[in-house]
Amino acid sequence: MILLGVNVDHAATVRQARYRDEPNTFGGFVEPDPAEIAWRSEEAGADGITMHVREDRRHVQTEDVERYMENKRTRLNLEMSWAEEMVDYALRIKPDSVCLVPEHREEVTTEGGLDVAGNRTKAREVTSALVDAGIPVSMFIDPESSQLEASAEVGAPWVELHTGSFAQAWFDQEARTREMEALRSGMTLGVELGLRVNAGHGINYDNVVEARTLDQVHEFNIGHSIISRSLFTGIEEAVASMRASLNPDS
Ligand code: PXP
Repeated sequence: MILLGVNVDHAATVRQARYRDEPNTFGGFVEPDPAEIAWRSEEAGADGITMHVREDRRHVQTEDVERYMENKRTRLNLEMSWAEEMVDYALRIKPDSVCLVPEHREEVTTEGGLDVAGNRTKAREVTSALVDAGIPVSMFIDPESSQLEASAEVGAPWVELHTGSFAQAWFDQEARTREMEALRSGMTLGVELGLRVNAGHGINYDNVVEARTLDQVHEFNIGHSIISRSLFTGIEEAVASMRASLNPDS
């Protein structure tokens, strides 16, 4: 069984596009409510919810995270940078897991994986602070052996392999095969190193058919395609059909 984590950031992106300057994050005419999208996703079969609180707060706000947590049914994977402010925030609210990602202000969404191998001291310090507080840490990395080995070495129990290059290569068979091979061998190495291996970024209703053949994956974290489809079908149908696509035989 491959688990589905639903990333609700883009529901917050839509709200911020209109109501960035409102004092409230929900209620009245302030919509859509990312916490409500998260709860409904859980009802439809999501195994977990991801929210990315960016340092510039461009989409999810801390109020969204905390409201969701008051009534969550599954688990919160808090995506964040390893800035001190964010680590303190995670230690205070105690999500079920933290996914560490690189953040660059100019990017539209997360681009590229975290350079754990080049920042071992920082990675070790942040990981041990969170893991000692009982919060599993997942490193969002490209499927490179140096990054996998460094993640295990600094004590991260989980990694999330970046599937963006695979998704981008969808119309180029040669590149796509190469990216799938990189993901497959990254997963094998991760499992050998004792890591739980998740994956995500750019997975949609088409490429999931190939992505799901990465059978060592524990969970896919998927956002944009689910939120986009929900505009036509509602979030429940969008989540249920993605979960069914991940596990066609169950
Ligand atoms: N995993 C991580 C670490 C991400 O940063 C993102 C994008 O926010 C996702 C998964 C989901 O990517 P997408 O929205 O393309 O499904």
